[in-house]
Amino acid sequence: MRALFVVLKPLCFLALLGYCPSATIRPKEGWQVYSSAQDADGRCICTVVAPEQNLCSRDAKSRQLRQLLEKIQNMSQSIEVLNLRTQRDFQYVMKMESQMKGLRSKFRQIESNRRTLLTKNFQELKGKMNDLQPLIPVLEQYKTDATLISQFKEEIRNLSLVLTAIQEEIGAYDYEELQQRVLGLEGRLRNCMNKLTCGKLMKITGPITVKTSGTRFGAWMTDPQASPKNNKVWYMDSYTNNKIVREYKSVSDFVSGVESRTYNLPFHWAGTNHVVYNGSLYYNKYQSNIIVRYSFESGRVMTQRALESAGFHNVYPYTWGGFSDIDLMADELGLWAIYATNQNAGNIVISQLDPLTIQVLNTWNTEYSKRNAGESFMICGTLYITNSHLTGAKVYYSYSTKTSTYEYMDIPIHNQYFHMSMLDYNARDRALYGWNNGHQVLFNVTLFHIIKTDDES
Ligand SMILES: *[C@@H]1O[C@H](CO)[C@@H](O)[C@H](O)[C@H]1NC(C)=O
Ligand SMILES: *[C@@H]1O[C@H](CO)[C@@H](O)[C@H](O)[C@H]1NC(C)=O
Ligand SMILES: *[C@@H]1O[C@H](CO)[C@@H](O)[C@H](O)[C@H]1NC(C)=O
Ligand SMILES: *[C@@H]1O[C@H](CO)[C@@H](O)[C@H](O)[C@H]1NC(C)=O
Repeated sequence: MRALFVVLKPLCFLALLGYCPSATIRPKEGWQVYSSAQDADGRCICTVVAPEQNLCSRDAKSRQLRQLLEKIQNMSQSIEVLNLRTQRDFQYVMKMESQMKGLRSKFRQIESNRRTLLTKNFQELKGKMNDLQPLIPVLEQYKTDATLISQFKEEIRNLSLVLTAIQEEIGAYDYEELQQRVLGLEGRLRNCMNKLTCGKLMKITGPITVKTSGTRFGAWMTDPQASPKNNKVWYMDSYTNNKIVREYKSVSDFVSGVESRTYNLPFHWAGTNHVVYNGSLYYNKYQSNIIVRYSFESGRVMTQRALESAGFHNVYPYTWGGFSDIDLMADELGLWAIYATNQNAGNIVISQLDPLTIQVLNTWNTEYSKRNAGESFMICGTLYITNSHLTGAKVYYSYSTKTSTYEYMDIPIHNQYFHMSMLDYNARDRALYGWNNGHQVLFNVTLFHIIKTDDES
């Protein structure tokens, strides 16, 4: 059957069908007979059907389309973020590759001219080459990812063109098919994001000094769950005897000191290891192992709960002290508490927390002494621990909650102002927020996808 679609109003449309409604032929579901015309002999020549009134009057399809468009816009934002991150990591990998190429050519030179060089140098170079070998698959993977990202970008551009056109000429496309395309794309994008955004820490660059303010010890942060446009900064100066949280609308407001709000918490905080996650501040209540969840929106404490067995009040602080016993943090996988217990001999314990109830979901015991840790931060379910809060600090130990295994490592951090009282990863910015002796600093991290993993997740 051929149907002629006529746009009646921009968002409401009619179809002219060359048949009459009868018991056997009915319009498609969701459509109703609008009117029909008959010829002089009483035969039906034309029937007009229209979407059912509710669809038409409430502009359901156009609303659905608007949602699709919004989804597409959201996706393109995510793609931009992903692209930026991959580009950043890519540059680092490319640098390594050119270093590797340089070594290779030196290597060849040496081989062709072996007698003139000492065997020792030769061996050294050979060792360096071997160190760099694992980078080859990583590099290949990055090239694939970059291609994938540009494909996504094109696909999103195509889809949003189609969608924009459809908004003007509604009805010309099959909405169901379109929705399937959008959902399919979204699903693949999400998988891709999960794969690309998680990886193993390889390098820490910076810092950039954002601001110099406050005492030697404090905390500042943004919400990793907030939308890319929402870049509110929260500022909590000092590790003790304070309960005033300052809020800034953006980093530039923070830099120029334009406060948007202050919150007067009902309880003082302990330490500098607070975190803002999904609109709530999580902090350790002074002189206790109680974790408080304070909602900025309602300005109220939503939940408080003791972290069982956790040492507090300088029983198991980080190396610098400052009641830094309980460190709250968030990463790609959710909310975490890092602390130490007598049961685990003062070594670091990792607990994943339910963001709503603050209940412990799962716990891992490490063998790294909390009092010997400078700071720690979580990326993609792996805890990274620094060995000091002073000059020369480096990431020294990591513990994967995925495999329950640890690893020693050696990733330097430039401790520019000599005393680090806070260091926390923000998964949205893929940056480390630090409080460096009264300076608020940011570090970038380079993560490599782990190519060879045993599980395929
Ligand atoms: C787009 O993102 C915004 C903010 O993150 C969210 O509120 C909204 O529901 C998203 N829209 C769709 C259609 O996914
Ligand atoms: C986007 O549209 C162009 C032109 O119609 C087409 O050649 C290309 O294959 C499309 N790309 C994707 C990823 O669908
Ligand atoms: C964030 O909060 C909203 C409501 O406030 C909730 O629906 C959502 O599940 C929360 N997200 C996470 C990751 O906890
Ligand atoms: C992190 O990388 C981004 C993108 O390359 C750059 O704009 C930013 O300045 C870097 N920040 C730091 C702290 O190095």
